[in-house]
Amino acid sequence: MSDLLLIRNAGQLLTLRGPEVPRRGDALSDLGLIRDGAVLIRNGSIEAAGPADEVERLAGEERDVTEIDARRRVVMPGFVDSHTHLVHGPPRLLDYEMRLRGADYHQISEAGGGILASVKAVRGAAPEDLEAQARAAVRNFVRHGTTTIEAKSGYGLDETAEFKALVVVAAVDGQPVDLIPTYLGAHIIPAEYKDDPDAYIQWMCEEMMPRIRRQRLAAFADVYCDRGAFTIHQARQYLTWAREVGFELKVHAEQFEHTGAARMACELGATSADHLEQADAEDAAALGRSPTIATLLPGSVFHLGLDRYAPARMLVENGAAVALATDFNPGTSPTCSMPFILSLACTRMRMSPAEAISAATINGAHAVRRAESIGSLEPGKQADVVLLNVKDYREIPYWFGVNLVEMAVKRGVVVYRQGEVVEKSAKERAADAR
Ligand code: NIG
Ligand code: FE
Repeated sequence: MSDLLLIRNAGQLLTLRGPEVPRRGDALSDLGLIRDGAVLIRNGSIEAAGPADEVERLAGEERDVTEIDARRRVVMPGFVDSHTHLVHGPPRLLDYEMRLRGADYHQISEAGGGILASVKAVRGAAPEDLEAQARAAVRNFVRHGTTTIEAKSGYGLDETAEFKALVVVAAVDGQPVDLIPTYLGAHIIPAEYKDDPDAYIQWMCEEMMPRIRRQRLAAFADVYCDRGAFTIHQARQYLTWAREVGFELKVHAEQFEHTGAARMACELGATSADHLEQADAEDAAALGRSPTIATLLPGSVFHLGLDRYAPARMLVENGAAVALATDFNPGTSPTCSMPFILSLACTRMRMSPAEAISAATINGAHAVRRAESIGSLEPGKQADVVLLNVKDYREIPYWFGVNLVEMAVKRGVVVYRQGEVVEKSAKERAADAR
């Protein structure tokens, strides 16, 4: 017998259906919205997503259908968070306080905080502790409606710690959401290679990459190209080698300094160029002509207390395929909340709510090369669905800092239901007890 689930009575069903290409320009505003919709799920896949009468008629021909009543709320694909540093050890609270007192990102690194502090922590951590942390974080992502998470290494940097992080990602994958692993060996130059960065690059390319590929521990390779990290020349070397070895490419590009990394990402056929806070008109034009996804991470600008967000309007107007992600990490973006990222995208980068939703679902799926199976609610795709406690999709970014996710479904299985608040007062309960 097949396993059937009907999500009925959706006031707004956002299908995100459309051609199998990333959304650009006006297409970003097309949510494939169906008023009064329903979704029929069979064995974890979408059988139908459309007008309630049609979908319910199909379901009516079946026996043993489990029903979920969406109560006129918004039903949409789960968020695809295409950029996270999932495995990272403890929060960096000293950095946070130093920054609040006026220190900048680079001063903090020089004082022994920053990425190196997380590297020290990850190297020293027991695998089971890292795994428990990653699982706890994943639960938080799920509570905020994310059903697929890209997860980078990059806080280990030596052989043992990078493998430890990637093995944690593999262990947590599928429990309950999918993780897509990325090797970010080129995050920064570790202290032991401070005087010989070329040797570090050579070691990553010749030793680490082939082994990681052979063991299928990462699908993507990523490099942080910026001041204090890797130069454009080093990044090109690393990415060229990574492509040879069989990785898909991602680049941390134009975050603090303009380096030319975004254009290099386009030139090398990278899947995505991420950050882009310092991107200029030429970068926007290049991304507009390129299949490379422009992934914006406004959480890091917010948390660092900076003002310069990525030029989202310029990117959209130039035809770039814009995606949004959390950049979940302990230094610049400690959040698991895609809805909050949408609030920032709208309020601070002037994306429209519809553009932000496309960027966080179907374009996120393109940014992890999974658009054939996730990112929209279309027949044959994986049934990754969220139900939000709002009647209008524009409320998703509008109510900021509030978690409106009521239910998350992964491959047809309900993996999260919002908890209940006890409404009776302590006084009333005491009276009941008497
Ligand atoms: O994407 N910028 C490089 N990597 C991270 C920050 C890492 C950290 O501070 O720990 C980012 O923002
Ligand atoms: Fe990042």
